[in-house]
Amino acid sequence: MSCKELISKASATHYLTRDELILLLKDKSCSNLLFAAADDIRHRYVGDEIHLRGLIEFSNICRNNCCYCGLRRDNHNLTRYRLSQDEIFALAQHAAVNMGLKTIVLQSGEDMYFDQDKMCEIITSIKSLNVALTLSIGEKNLSEYQAYKAAGADRFLLRIETTDKTLYHRLDPGMSWQARKQCLDDLRTSGLEVGSGIMVGLPGQTIESLADDILFFKQIDADMIGIGPFIPHPDTPLRNAFGGTLELSLKVMALTRLLLPDINIPATTAMETLAPSGQTKALQSGANVIMPNITLNQYRKFYELYPGKSSTNISSDDALTELKAKIASIGRSISSDYGFHQKKI
Ligand code: 5AD
Ligand code: SF4
Repeated sequence: MSCKELISKASATHYLTRDELILLLKDKSCSNLLFAAADDIRHRYVGDEIHLRGLIEFSNICRNNCCYCGLRRDNHNLTRYRLSQDEIFALAQHAAVNMGLKTIVLQSGEDMYFDQDKMCEIITSIKSLNVALTLSIGEKNLSEYQAYKAAGADRFLLRIETTDKTLYHRLDPGMSWQARKQCLDDLRTSGLEVGSGIMVGLPGQTIESLADDILFFKQIDADMIGIGPFIPHPDTPLRNAFGGTLELSLKVMALTRLLLPDINIPATTAMETLAPSGQTKALQSGANVIMPNITLNQYRKFYELYPGKSSTNISSDDALTELKAKIASIGRSISSDYGFHQKKI
């Protein structure tokens, strides 16, 4: 089958074999066709509204040592911070009340200070603001995920990073791919919406493994998938590696939209960091979510997963107006609902 036929097949059936995915990922001539098809499927299944999720990076302290990440435990060139529960609540309140955001995302490194009791207190306080709440705080056990759900949390993000187990174990020393997969299964059991995702362009990552990653998203029946290029950080062991490209990241994202047509897909910060129009391109290639950063400037610069992390920032009224204008300029609007995953297939 030609690329064109494969893309039509994916749009109609939401299924491709591993070999077909590999063919499309390898063929550079089909990118634009793929982006247009993903844009069309996005329009048909999740509509033209964009969901804004206000991101609070509440601690950059992490017990892990992922080779790609600037927050890794062995990076001593980084000022570490931890927000207080009051600071976290104040940010969430500002986002909900003054900015009208419908979802708050709490993200941190794996900081053991925030144990189950503290997290549940934070969750309960934020849920009083009538927002949906997403957590992105790393690997926990089933009873912890259940406790977050009981306290009112709605969703959880845990990227699998790569489904290539050998690569995972090389890049995430001391961690286990099986344990991470177990976390995704436990999240599903807990009743939270499950978000996952990968980085594209990790050193040693193959096109074949990216095809496996996309099939994995379908296999776990993900509610949300975030895909971003790997960007080397100077204070990590991967400082001299080549990073991922916007083009390949967008292709993986577009294929994910074709195979999982009704899920939520963010235009990731890493895409915007790589190219000034990366976010817009992503929104026109399958994405329907933006996660503006609402962390205060004084802390934001220390949440450096990768250098130049340029997040959409709507802490001022002007910035929010600007974002709305940018969204309107591509014929889209900002959603006023919570943006839960509505299953259509
Ligand atoms: N480049 C791009 N993305 C990164 N992440 C961590 N380090 C990097 C990097 N150097 C991503 C990982 C993690 C998410 C929070 O940020 O996928 O899950
Ligand atoms: Fe910690 Fe996450 Fe960075 Fe790994 S990717 S070092 S778990 S913050």
